[in-house]
Amino acid sequence: MPPTTSQVLENLRGGPKYKKMPEINWDSELYTKQHHFVSDYGADVLQWLAPQSGEHILDVGCGTGELTAKIAESGAIVLGTDSSEEMVTASKRNFPELEFEVIDGTQLPYLENFDAVFSNATFHWIDNQKALTIGLYHSLKKGGRLVTEFGGKGNIKSIIDAVGQAAQQLGLESKLNKDFWFFPSIADYTTLLEKNGFEVEQAWLFHRPTPLNGENGMHDWITQFAPYAFKNLEGKSAVAIQNLAVDLLKSTHYVNHQWMADYKRLRIKAFKR
Ligand code: BEZ
Repeated sequence: MPPTTSQVLENLRGGPKYKKMPEINWDSELYTKQHHFVSDYGADVLQWLAPQSGEHILDVGCGTGELTAKIAESGAIVLGTDSSEEMVTASKRNFPELEFEVIDGTQLPYLENFDAVFSNATFHWIDNQKALTIGLYHSLKKGGRLVTEFGGKGNIKSIIDAVGQAAQQLGLESKLNKDFWFFPSIADYTTLLEKNGFEVEQAWLFHRPTPLNGENGMHDWITQFAPYAFKNLEGKSAVAIQNLAVDLLKSTHYVNHQWMADYKRLRIKAFKR
């Protein structure tokens, strides 16, 4: 039985205490310049969404709005949301003709407003997966579809391991903040969806090695995406770990002057029962 609206609200307000999403400074310019691959790759998952003209579609975690705009090209009426004010401001600047709102993924306020919910490269940032899943369920009309892709089990394992190894070598392991990303297996994620009223039609877990821009690509990636790992460390210690981690990765992940990150994606298509 899917939860009732009052259960949803109770869960969102008084449920177990979850870690807050990492306080990342979402630098929209660095993101667009260095990490535009996030939306470039996301275009592929749009094929699973197959948006139709006139459909109402919610894009959760819209970032700088590129994929929201691609969805809108189909003639669908799309709302892009992101928990980062900086990203929503950038989206509005990039696509002034479209609708964007600052909304946290664990507090989606919608009730059967959408034919489909789409999300790319966002769910791995969310700790309170139950609140997210319940919110997705309630956002959709009956029979509506959820299409999402994010980091799956084993995602960026080499980078996580290298940062851990560097911290250990420098005697700083106890201060490293770990496990703040959610990279589930197919079994874990589909079970979560099924328990919350979804029927899963397709689930893929696949390697997608991802080139990082420039000679400092790995360094820039860690700077943008992993500062939360270092939040209990002094600046100097954090830099030392980061530099050593990059050195450790160099022989395997910097080939022919190209940095590669070992991304693994979980791609899902599910329907609201
Ligand atoms: C990802 O898209 O898989 C990802 C991006 C940043 C940090 C962690 C994972």
